[in-house]
Amino acid sequence: SMTINVTWLSHACLLIDTGDATLLVDPFITGNPLAPIAPDAIQADYILVSHGHGDHVGDTVAIAQRTGATVISNFEIHNWLLAQGVEKAHPQHIGGGFDYPWGRVKLTIAHHGSALPDGSYGGNPCGFLFYIQGKKIYHACDTGLFYDMKLIGEEGVDLAVLPIGDNFTMGPDDSLRAVKLIEPACVLPIHYNTFDVIQQDAMAWKTRVEQETNAKAVVLAPGESLVL
Ligand code: NI
Ligand code: MN
Repeated sequence: SMTINVTWLSHACLLIDTGDATLLVDPFITGNPLAPIAPDAIQADYILVSHGHGDHVGDTVAIAQRTGATVISNFEIHNWLLAQGVEKAHPQHIGGGFDYPWGRVKLTIAHHGSALPDGSYGGNPCGFLFYIQGKKIYHACDTGLFYDMKLIGEEGVDLAVLPIGDNFTMGPDDSLRAVKLIEPACVLPIHYNTFDVIQQDAMAWKTRVEQETNAKAVVLAPGESLVL
């Protein structure tokens, strides 16, 4: 089968190249001091938005309008995006999966907020469980630790993408506990160093993960990729 390339564009933003399609998650580029690319340089076939906060909705509307990408989000954010002028959007909701031409994605719970940038109601925040070419990628997005991560892990996760920044999401200690619940083959830390209040030492976290679990922790610089 083809390989899957996962590029971290800093914060919670991932670019997943499945070989068949390019998936862009939480494209916070404008105003992001760590972004390694200009929003106009990003190509996407699908954009996934985990919740309404500005550091996740980010450049979604502009990139969707320029590329014609289909935006996947919860129903409330879907309605808001249509009102912003996005033409192609697919609503899902927590617990629900859908089969796209490139694979499947299921929305998972996340403990967080979801107000949209203009104050509109954004429904409940979510994470994403991707099923692509027999591989499973769990992007927890913004969340605190929750015990049901164990249920997600029971599906057999090849790559877990977990926030470690603390303050707004899980910090390093709870993210390590999350790895123990999920038991992924590989884990990628995200949502750190973008702002002063979420500064973390990702290499120190990697050392703890690899001492205390069987997961391989991959620390990327913004713009770097890993291959599944
Ligand atoms: Ni948030
Ligand atoms: Mn966030």
